[in-house]
Formats: sequence, C-alpha cells, structure tokens
Amino acid sequence: MAGYGDHAADIYNLDVRPDDIWVVAFSRSGTTWLQELLWLLENNLDYDGAAKTPLTKRYAFIEYPTMSSEVKKGPPTAGNSSGATVDDFRNFHTLQSPRFVKTHLPLSLLPPKLLDTAKVFYIARDPRDVAVSFHFMHKLFRYFDEDVQFTEFWELFKKDLLLHMPLFPHIEEAWTKRDHPNMTFLFYEEMQKDLCSVIDKVSKALGKEYTNEQKKKLAEHLNFENMKKSSTLKYGKEDKDTEIKFMRKGLSGNWVKYFNTDELKREAEEYMETHLSKTDLTFPDLA
Ligand code: A3P
Repeated sequence: MAGYGDHAADIYNLDVRPDDIWVVAFSRSGTTWLQELLWLLENNLDYDGAAKTPLTKRYAFIEYPTMSSEVKKGPPTAGNSSGATVDDFRNFHTLQSPRFVKTHLPLSLLPPKLLDTAKVFYIARDPRDVAVSFHFMHKLFRYFDEDVQFTEFWELFKKDLLLHMPLFPHIEEAWTKRDHPNMTFLFYEEMQKDLCSVIDKVSKALGKEYTNEQKKKLAEHLNFENMKKSSTLKYGKEDKDTEIKFMRKGLSGNWVKYFNTDELKREAEEYMETHLSKTDLTFPDLA
C-alpha cells in the first residue's frame, strides 16, 4: 500500500450516501469520544452492541492504510482487534448502510459532495492540548521514539510538519461550514463543559429524541473514566506508568503543564495569536 498521495484521488472520489454519518476531526481532538456518542445515539442506545463491537469495526477509518506507510515503523495492532480499522476506502462501497465513517483528513480532501449529501460531525480542540496529546500519541504508535521531548515535538508541531497537518486550516475549513444544515461543528471543550447539551445538539442533528434519564445514562457512559475502562477502546502498546496511552488524561487546558518554560509559554501564545488573528474562530472559554 502506497502513501496518502497515491490514494488521494481514491478517497476524494469515494461515493457518499445520504444516510452516511461522517466524523471528521484532526487527530487527538476527541474523535473517539464523538464516535461513541454518535454511534449510540444513532443506534437507539444499544450499549450491548457497543460493548461487543470495537469502534474499529463500527466505523470505517477511510485513509488508515495510507497512513501506515507514511511512518517508519507503522502503528501496532489495536488492543483487541485486527488494527485501527477493519474497513477503509478500499471496501467502502461494499459496506451496508448506514455507514459510520471516521477520518482525520480535512474537508477539502474529502469528496466534494460530502456536506451536501451526508451528515458531517466535526470536532475541534484547543491546538495546545492537541499538541500535548499528539506528542504522546506519536510515542504510543511508535511514530517517534519514547525519548523525544515535548520541546522537540513542539518545534515540528508549530511549523505544521507532522502527520495530517496543517492544523488550523483543518479546523477553519469546517468552521466556515458550521452553518451548513448537514454540519454539526463541536468543540472538545464544549463536551467537557456540558456533555448533555452536546448530546441534545447531536440528537437533534440525527433527528432522534431521548428522555432526560436516557441522556443522563449516556453522559455517564461517555465519562472519561468509564470509557477508559472499555476494552473496545484500547489501542497500541500502552504503558501503565507513563502518559503513553490512548485514553491519556481527558482534560482541557492541561497543556499549561507541558508549556512549562517562559519560552514555550511565549511561543504558544504567539502561535495561537498568529493563527486566530486571521479568522473569526474562537475556542470556548474554559471558565
Ligand atoms: P488526551 O491525550 O488529552 O487525554 P482522538 O480520539 O481524536 O484521538 O482524541 C483523543 C483524546 O480525546 C485523548 O486526549 C483522549 O483521552 C480524549 N478522550 C477520549 N475519550 C474521552 C472522554 N470520554 N472524555 C474526555 N476525553 C476523552
């Protein structure tokens, strides 16, 4: 399997069905969290089905096979399944409807009719938290050696020199489409602050209605500690004693702990200011 460049057209030209459900996000932005929420809401809160079938089987991760050849050592197999996905762009047309799709590609690299055809759910997260989480993910999937320091990683991150980058244009492309009737644009920080209202928003987009009791139970299921326990969500070779975990901390604003020198703090501020000054995008206030 060649890299993304060799399959860009295959992905861009994929067929889209009106009952597809697409989750689009930059890596480490809450994709998995949103996938679980969406799948349960669409499948009438089938907790048994969710427990029995890993997310890697419930969603087609369309570009996945092209990613593994872009990194030297390749990602290891997922904890209890055959990999980070079972289905991808190669067998996408054979899948039964409704298809659940996950992608870390930006909208501009996805089928141009996507948004006018199917429901799209985008999740964005404060890039500084993404940077920290992405750093540990690179070690988890052995893209980078474990001794790579955050300061070294940040040098590449701020210049958009990592997988799936550039980051800000990825978010902005979706942000500009946030009012499209098929687009539900969410923030990780919003899910942290008020998961119930995100459940309401997503239910509405799916045309589903649930009672307060059902919504409360779902919010409990989606709680970080509960999701962390789920064996269907284990990926990579987790190290118990470090932060090299797929479900690592599940916090917002925790980036301050890693940007821990004056130099890093100044750079983080500059990075945010430079990008945000060009757009009307704002991340939710955590207070
Ligand atoms: P951290 O590394 O900051 O903990 P993605 O699925 O897009 O790769 O995002 C992974 C990030 O989402 C990780 O962030 C992970 O812990 C966090 N996450 C996953 N499920 C979560 C949940 N139920 N609650 C809060 N954060 C969650």
